[in-house]
Amino acid sequence: MLKPLRRAAVRVVKPRVSDETWARLRAVDPWHRQSRRGLIAFNKWDKHQYARHYGRHFMDLRRTSFTLLQIGIDGYRREGSGGESLRMWKHLFPKAQIVGLEQDDKPFLNEKRILVYQGSQTDAYLLRSIARKHRNLKIIVDAGSHRPEHIRATFAILFPLLSDGGFYAIEETQTSYWPRFGGSADLKDPATTMSMIKDLLDGLNYEEFGDQKPRCYADSHVVAVHCYHNLVIIEKGVNAEGGHRPRDWATPGVAYDGNS
Ligand SMILES: C[S@@+](CC[C@H](N)C(=O)[O-])C[C@H]1O[C@@H](n2cnc3c(N)ncnc32)[C@H](O)[C@@H]1O
Repeated sequence: MLKPLRRAAVRVVKPRVSDETWARLRAVDPWHRQSRRGLIAFNKWDKHQYARHYGRHFMDLRRTSFTLLQIGIDGYRREGSGGESLRMWKHLFPKAQIVGLEQDDKPFLNEKRILVYQGSQTDAYLLRSIARKHRNLKIIVDAGSHRPEHIRATFAILFPLLSDGGFYAIEETQTSYWPRFGGSADLKDPATTMSMIKDLLDGLNYEEFGDQKPRCYADSHVVAVHCYHNLVIIEKGVNAEGGHRPRDWATPGVAYDGNS
């Protein structure tokens, strides 16, 4: 009874990509060679080349059980539209619970291991409830409004709720530079997405400057910031390696002697 239904579903989601594109994808990211169905969202991602970065960073999680939360699942208000990337994640992580958060209602996407919530990416109460309900949040993908003020607010709420060893990805970071999306062409504007990212980079080295104490939660929990064209992937862990600065670190003009 179920078989014809399942076959029909596979036909619907089958990716339409040329052989040339397939060859290129396989070349850059052998992780995805495993399955054509896993490439459902590649039409979209290939444009931005996110997939090969995700493939590299997320590969170790592929056989583990955890929760992946994606904010913004596409389709907007179009009925029955969106969710391709959620299905792709489900396929790529066979033991993971995939959770979506979307401002528009998408109940048709709910199925085994995929659960979609309707709401805003800046609703702190909702985000915390989701994290409480779905433990071991190891991957968060912010693909929501792409507005810097939302991206920053969501990161402030959700990053502390991400598990150690987890990844926080922000897609379409180019909007940081676009006033139309609330970004700014001023590279020093402190309110943009990329200014937050640049600050995370300083925080990564907090033990080498100032009073060597973390200025905020992110300082002591961001262990790597991977920046790509229009994509940032932040790794979480314990950032307390210990400082290496010499006693006279604040004295200008003293040459580095290799002992620090
Ligand atoms: C560009 S799409 C994301 C596509 C995603 N990269 C993918 O592969 O599926 C952005 C989605 O975010 C949703 N969105 C926009 N603002 C939001 C907000 N404040 N809270 C939650 N979702 C939002 C939109 O409705 C839309 O469906």
